[in-house]
Amino acid sequence: MSLKLVNISKVFKDPDQPNKQIVAVEGVNLEINEGEMVSFLGPSGCGKTTTLRIVSGFETPTTGEVWLSGKMINDLPPNKRDTAMVFQSYAIFPHLSVGQNIAFGLELKGYDKKTIRKEVDSIMEIMNLREYYNRRPDQLSGGQQQRVALARSIINRPSVLLFDEPLSNLDAKLREQMRFEIRRIQQKFKITSIYVTHDQAEAMIVSDRIVVMNEGHIMQVGTPFEIYSKPVNQFVADFVGRVNSIEGLIVGLNNGDGYEVTFGGKVKKIPSEINTLGMNDSVKAIVRPESLRIKNFQEGDESLFHGRIEKMVYLGPTVEYDIEIPGRDPIYAVTHNPIEEGFFNVGDEVSIDFSPKAAHLLKKE
Ligand SMILES: Nc1ncnc2c1ncn2[C@@H]1O[C@H](COP(=O)(O)OP(=O)(O)O)[C@@H](O)[C@H]1O
Ligand SMILES: [Mg+2]
Repeated sequence: MSLKLVNISKVFKDPDQPNKQIVAVEGVNLEINEGEMVSFLGPSGCGKTTTLRIVSGFETPTTGEVWLSGKMINDLPPNKRDTAMVFQSYAIFPHLSVGQNIAFGLELKGYDKKTIRKEVDSIMEIMNLREYYNRRPDQLSGGQQQRVALARSIINRPSVLLFDEPLSNLDAKLREQMRFEIRRIQQKFKITSIYVTHDQAEAMIVSDRIVVMNEGHIMQVGTPFEIYSKPVNQFVADFVGRVNSIEGLIVGLNNGDGYEVTFGGKVKKIPSEINTLGMNDSVKAIVRPESLRIKNFQEGDESLFHGRIEKMVYLGPTVEYDIEIPGRDPIYAVTHNPIEEGFFNVGDEVSIDFSPKAAHLLKKE
């Protein structure tokens, strides 16, 4: 089902200073399509959980409306909302078997034994839990427990599935596996979902669209590609990965094919969807480290910058560099496939450039 948030805000009283207010969420507008999985991505305290709890009904918004499939549900209690939460603490009953845990929701609804068993078997099959019907939760691995928790939520066929950092208790390797598993299950059942995380890689893997939040506000909504390649501001650019913000000056206006930008003498025409920049405006070209082209410096080189490798970190598949450039911020670059392509060492003189397509212009604040 589709979900719509209209002008949602939440103001808390500060428990320590009753006269002080905490604005946890402000002016949040968002539409989530039927079957879509959207993640809320942002640093701790930015209002992700509060927004999720407003959707589930565990929290009342100070202003705004929550709509589910064309119905305003502000006044519905959580158990009437047809939403289900998947928590990070597994919230499964330790004294019940896996099968009983998964069956629990349907038993509450008063289904007959045969139907329940059929549904439970089918879900367990899909979740790769079939062999564990009679196990107790403490006889399962962390990843299996997480799958049981997910199965328990899904068996009720909720219209909306809500995840609040469900993988934070798992070790790194398992966390990576479970991201794909969660995405697979969500797509299998086509359940409209919201996934809260502060981990950008996790958001990229599970989401159709990412909602980047900061200090209670939505900064940007977009596909993982849009968020990474066309961040609307420096906060978003920094939050979804390392980035270079290369300062330049507008010397030619955008007539549909991009702005002419000078970077200390050399001019590039950089495509841009904005047309509100003026002549001599200061801008930043946002360029991801893997988009930079680095080669050994040679006299007469036409590249944009000339610099010196200050630091080199060999990581196997990639090599990372800090490159010192006279009169500018250092550049952070990544190269790939060092076995075939080779790599640079500290002290090497290099030339640095990027294709206009790899740059995204932001007005310098
Ligand atoms: N019940 C509450 N009472 C007071 N302040 C709260 C309460 N719940 C959350 N907050 C505050 O609201 C802000 C947003 O919190 P939260 O939504 O939990 O952030 P996130 O999930 O993004 O880490 C934080 O400053 C937090 O301290
Ligand atoms: Mg939270």
